[in-house]
Amino acid sequence: LVLVVDFGAQYAQLIARRVREARVYSEIVPHTMPVEQILAKRPKAVILSGGPQSVYAEGAPQIDRSLFEAGVPTFGICYGFMAMAQALGGNVALTGNSEFGRTTVTVKDNGKLLAGLPTNHTVWMSHGDEVIGAPEGFDVLASSPRATVAAFENVDSKLAGVQWHPEVLHTEHGQKVLEHFLYDLAGCRPTWTMVNIVDEAVHDIQAKIGGKRVVCALSGGVDSAVAGALVQRAVGNQLTCVFVDGGLLRKGEAEQVERDFVAAMGVELVVVDAVDQFLDALKGVEDPEQKRKIIGREFIRTFEQAAREIVEKAGADGEAVEFLVQGTLYPDVVESGGGEGAAVIKSHHNVGGLPDDLQFALVEPLRWLFKDEVRRVGEQLGLPPEMVWRHPFPGPGLAIRIVGEVNRDNLDILREADAIAREEVTAAGLDSEIWQFPVVLLAGVRSVGVQGDGRTYGHPIVLRPVTSEDAMTADWGRLPYDLLERISTRITNEVRQINRVVVDVTSKPPGTIEWE
Ligand code: XMP
Repeated sequence: LVLVVDFGAQYAQLIARRVREARVYSEIVPHTMPVEQILAKRPKAVILSGGPQSVYAEGAPQIDRSLFEAGVPTFGICYGFMAMAQALGGNVALTGNSEFGRTTVTVKDNGKLLAGLPTNHTVWMSHGDEVIGAPEGFDVLASSPRATVAAFENVDSKLAGVQWHPEVLHTEHGQKVLEHFLYDLAGCRPTWTMVNIVDEAVHDIQAKIGGKRVVCALSGGVDSAVAGALVQRAVGNQLTCVFVDGGLLRKGEAEQVERDFVAAMGVELVVVDAVDQFLDALKGVEDPEQKRKIIGREFIRTFEQAAREIVEKAGADGEAVEFLVQGTLYPDVVESGGGEGAAVIKSHHNVGGLPDDLQFALVEPLRWLFKDEVRRVGEQLGLPPEMVWRHPFPGPGLAIRIVGEVNRDNLDILREADAIAREEVTAAGLDSEIWQFPVVLLAGVRSVGVQGDGRTYGHPIVLRPVTSEDAMTADWGRLPYDLLERISTRITNEVRQINRVVVDVTSKPPGTIEWE
């Protein structure tokens, strides 16, 4: 276990991911955690992350010297590097010489940390203060135009640090530096492999659930699929999955959930056909937020009913259903405060208020995993790639991609157009280049066209390919013209009601990814 101490910048999660990419398990802890608690977790190493402040700022988080005296190998990054220098008696100056973004560091002594790195290479910096003197016993390894001491190490006490951000993509050899610290200074071994992750998760689930029964709601998305598959691997037919089909998924997805879970995974699956119920509830509704509310409510109602039947059926066999699977991921856990209590709030929020007499304890097999790890676990468990590598898809589904009323006709039109767009992007090999590709039907808009010899009066379809890293911001995806042309020609030829295809070239902000 490597602990990443979060000093409040956005980099802690990235550092934790990079450590795991080096196949060493890592967790994030807040900088407010007392040193005794950190040590009680028996970390093999500690990494101090960057932070937004100056070490001299009022209330700037300090590091308790006792951490360094405890003999745990520690690596400081950016703020963590300066805080370490300061705590150990080095000299940190408020020079006012800030350095942001790309810069070149010059390696004077490779030492262990920078072994094999070229004398000059590009790194990403973001700092105001400057370390001008390393603590006693430390070797200075590198400098940059505005950081006299940009890297140091003390091999005997297994302490090291860099001023730059090795975790970001723009830093050359960043992963190497992290690995040198982890393997060569801290003596970590690369044991966090997919096989071990799955084994460990399976073991934990078994320990938690024992011989009890468990239910899982599948959405068609990656997280619930992988969570369900893991629990299935752990406790087999003690698991019952529920898939609520509200008629809002894309072409082929509902069938795929059934196929993959029953055939590929051997999961016991209850499919609830709630299409009529959802569409009745959505009749005449055009407001996006109202659509979301209705869908959430209908989902809970249907799931609750299905869960109740499963509970009763198990009860008749003398068993109790005590657990509910949730696909909570590690970033949710970290962002909601990290502790056990925080997770419950989040999960409760996710389930969206099951009634009190349906009391389930939660099983969250993904709560220690990042999204990319979830996908790799999915592959390891044998889920098909189409499912594992699926683009994010909103819970309310196609309902928020129809501007106007959600009814069968509009859903059919959108599903056909969407399937064509997806097919062509896949055929062009561009799936991994784009983050998400909503196809939006403007059901309330009509325009005049001409097809064959006749005048048409049809609907426009909007193509909304976007690139993004986290959906918080996004850019419009530059799809090649010939691909756009193929999609346009096929949609207007194959989907009778569509006579116009337009491309959305708005970034986020100001636009959102979805139209509703
Ligand atoms: P926006 O449209 O806000 O979307 O830029 C950001 C990301 O969130 C997804 N999204 C949703 N996901 N329920 C969900 O589960 C929703 O109501 C919802 N609305 C948007 C969207 O697909 C994108 O990935």
